[in-house]
Amino acid sequence: MNMLDIIAKKRDKRTLTREEIAWFVEAVTNGDAPDYQTAALLMAIVINGMDHDETVALTMAMAHSGHMLDLTDITPYAVDKHSSGGVGDKTSLVVLPLVASCGVKVAKMSGRGLGLTGGTLDKLESIPGYNVNLSETEFRALAKANGIVLAGQSGELAPADGKLYALRDVTGTVQSLPLIVSSIMSKKIAAGARGIVLDVKVGSGAFMKSVQDGVELAQAMVDIGVSAHRDMIAMVTDMNQPLGEAVGHALEIREVIDVLRGGGPADFREHCLEVSAHMLWLAGRGERWTDYDRINAQLTDFLDDGKAFATFRAMVEAQGGDVEVVDDPDRLPRAAYIETIRAVQERYIAGVDAEMIARAVFELGGGREKKSDAIDHAVGAVVHVNVGDVVQPGQALVTLHANDRDKLAHALSLVHSAVTYSRDEVPPLPHVYETFVRRAAAG
Ligand code: URA
Repeated sequence: MNMLDIIAKKRDKRTLTREEIAWFVEAVTNGDAPDYQTAALLMAIVINGMDHDETVALTMAMAHSGHMLDLTDITPYAVDKHSSGGVGDKTSLVVLPLVASCGVKVAKMSGRGLGLTGGTLDKLESIPGYNVNLSETEFRALAKANGIVLAGQSGELAPADGKLYALRDVTGTVQSLPLIVSSIMSKKIAAGARGIVLDVKVGSGAFMKSVQDGVELAQAMVDIGVSAHRDMIAMVTDMNQPLGEAVGHALEIREVIDVLRGGGPADFREHCLEVSAHMLWLAGRGERWTDYDRINAQLTDFLDDGKAFATFRAMVEAQGGDVEVVDDPDRLPRAAYIETIRAVQERYIAGVDAEMIARAVFELGGGREKKSDAIDHAVGAVVHVNVGDVVQPGQALVTLHANDRDKLAHALSLVHSAVTYSRDEVPPLPHVYETFVRRAAAG
């Protein structure tokens, strides 16, 4: 086998065999495939696509390119969630303790933020002392003992994806359904989950801008997951406006704590309840958690009675975080300058552009361009309004938290253009556009 023949085959719109795909992925992982040939094949895939079997083969080869996490000694049925990335998306931080408080063990490896996307690990690190760098032995021990662990990757999961994604990023080959599906699903499969809940975001603050593209991606990921013997639920959810109110690390942790204590913004709470319900339903596998009404009643109780909060607090303590900060979120990192923009007229809110809000927070120092960049945990935005709200003169729209006056001025101008108004009534944005559910065939 050689790269030239494989590239030519895909260029000529022919179907690659499982062996050819496995050979290519191994060559990429070992560093044997030169970047120019890998990029040529990626471009041929972008242009000519891949069928279902090719995409399954690519996904599985990438999943097996590094360490495969086996969680069966922790739980017989590991359930995981994945979001395609959104603005103010701190869902995992509520959902994991909530699901764990129902007796379903969760052991999740999360990532850091890059560009406009926030990362769960960065958010957690606004709690002083919280250790995301666990060895696999520590990760397993915490999952077994406490039923919950949330940390960074220990072994290298799906290293072929890291190499391919870096090349896709600089060769115009990110936008391809089989490449996106295999990239996301290979990491989830390598992380040991049997049941996977996918939250595919669509809108201005998401990777997928249109509902149609999101639906296509969700369906393709469900197909591939089921073929890889995973039970799958994929939700296509709105990301035209930020999720919840807070965008920025410490501010998001504060909002997480609010929700875990039974409060918080209604849209974010609702979203967390829905993702958690799907995870429990998958984990129930026809035995325990089978009925959505019962699941929802249980989840709501655990948010309102403090059980989920106690689980989060125990997780923070187990990973070395300062629980006094969890008990008193005023101790979280705080910014020097706080400024609020307000409505000047009575109007309906027509838009709160999520991408623009993310850009403002990035400009304040809340994001990183390169992996090595430092981030400011204290800065961010609190968005007080949703599309469809009617606002009165003087009503708070967005509050910015900054540590630098010049950056604040720039961020304010971005936020001013992020919020748009209408004299006419505007319907609220839907939360979920579509949900796809499919269990893997037995065996
Ligand atoms: N997110 C990923 O992990 N991979 C892609 O290809 C696109 C988005």
